[in-house]
Amino acid sequence: MTAPADVIVDVELGARSYPVHVVAALTRLGPLLRQRLPGARRALICGPAPVLGPWGEAACASLRAAGVEPVVVEHPDGEGAKQISVWEGMIDALLSHGLRRDEPLLALGGGVTGDLVGFCAATALRGVPLVQVPTSLLAMVDSSVGGKVGLNTRHGKNLVGAFYQPTLVVAPVACLATLPALHRSSGLGEILKHALLAGAPALAALDAAAPALQGGQAGAWVELIAAQVRFKAGVVARDEHELGERALLNLGHTVGHAVEAARGGALPHGICVALGLLAEAAWAAGAGLGPAALPAQLAQRFQALGIELPSLMIDAPTLFQYMAHDKKRARATLQVPIIGAEGGPLLAALDEAAVHDLARVSAQVLAAPLLAASVLTDPLLTDPLLTDPGAAPRGAPPLPPSAPPVAP
Ligand SMILES: NC(=O)c1ccc[n+]([C@@H]2O[C@H](COP(=O)([O-])OP(=O)(O)OC[C@H]3O[C@@H](n4cnc5c(N)ncnc54)[C@H](O)[C@@H]3O)[C@@H](O)[C@H]2O)c1
Repeated sequence: MTAPADVIVDVELGARSYPVHVVAALTRLGPLLRQRLPGARRALICGPAPVLGPWGEAACASLRAAGVEPVVVEHPDGEGAKQISVWEGMIDALLSHGLRRDEPLLALGGGVTGDLVGFCAATALRGVPLVQVPTSLLAMVDSSVGGKVGLNTRHGKNLVGAFYQPTLVVAPVACLATLPALHRSSGLGEILKHALLAGAPALAALDAAAPALQGGQAGAWVELIAAQVRFKAGVVARDEHELGERALLNLGHTVGHAVEAARGGALPHGICVALGLLAEAAWAAGAGLGPAALPAQLAQRFQALGIELPSLMIDAPTLFQYMAHDKKRARATLQVPIIGAEGGPLLAALDEAAVHDLARVSAQVLAAPLLAASVLTDPLLTDPLLTDPGAAPRGAPPLPPSAPPVAP
């Protein structure tokens, strides 16, 4: 079978424009880097062990074949790597390797790698070229495009950061072969969010592609990922700094981030977003603001795409506290993107009573066996509440004195 051809999507940002290449294999990295940065003699590949293990040598070989000397810098794996002490260690390692201003950093990994290494690229030597090489589905369709890079702090997620656009993005679909199933579901959650925002034709295309995706057809994955990149590139080009339309990309994130925070980062981002989509749709339907049929339609799509979601016991007051401290809060109201009654996205301004109601409905949806058949059994999750829905509910970790805001 011949490999699918590259699909190129341009992110149009004037002088900061860049191409996103959705490619079949990592062998394309070297030639594309050479073409985009002809002067580069050396490149520093940064990533975590689960990615460097299967893909580090292939990335190095591709660079060498293109006449670029690779240097590999490993960073810790997981959400915990997005912190200032890890960034400091990375900067130290990069400078110890004699990093020069014209040498690109390659972020080879998931969204955590892109955010951490992107922030290193933005700050080392006041900025060096950044090449995003996303290897998780979520990073391919979302986080590698748009230039948001940053770190978490004890006050909340993504509260230190920058808008720093990459010079090049190369998304090698073959890398998805080693991605754990849970993280595949996580990426599909973000894809469903994009399709909901993009409207009926995008949802129909996703429905039609579901069997081919489930069957692992490389061409179907390349097309799907390219469609997501096209959608996100359009939003970013129109609103680079999230002053308007880009805020709609936070659909599902009001509840999703609250779940992520309440679970202490134990659940992947896209899984939390998928749960958020469901809870927010149920709330909007109940409040007469959104389509009544949407929650059931979402549940069907989760099933068709093989997205497995856990049942969670998180009480309404805990969800409320995390949501009430969300960064999207404006004066007395919380700005929550929802799918409106006409099917299109809009920003709803929720007062305190409405946020309480959203928390109440969300707690029910998260605990309800809406998707009982697909309760997670992935060994990556060790939380007994996730694998044993019958386990006694346990309170979420105590909030810090001032509950953390969560930035998108
Ligand atoms: N900057 C943005 O615009 C933006 C947008 C959405 C999400 N994010 C951020 O992205 C992060 C989540 O990204 P994620 O879900 O990719 O998490 P992640 O980077 O932690 O990757 C998930 C896990 O899969 C592993 N992995 C990745 N690719 C693999 C592969 N091909 N083979 C084997 N293992 C692989 C990783 O090492 C990790 O263990 C969060 O921190 C979130 O805040 C950023």
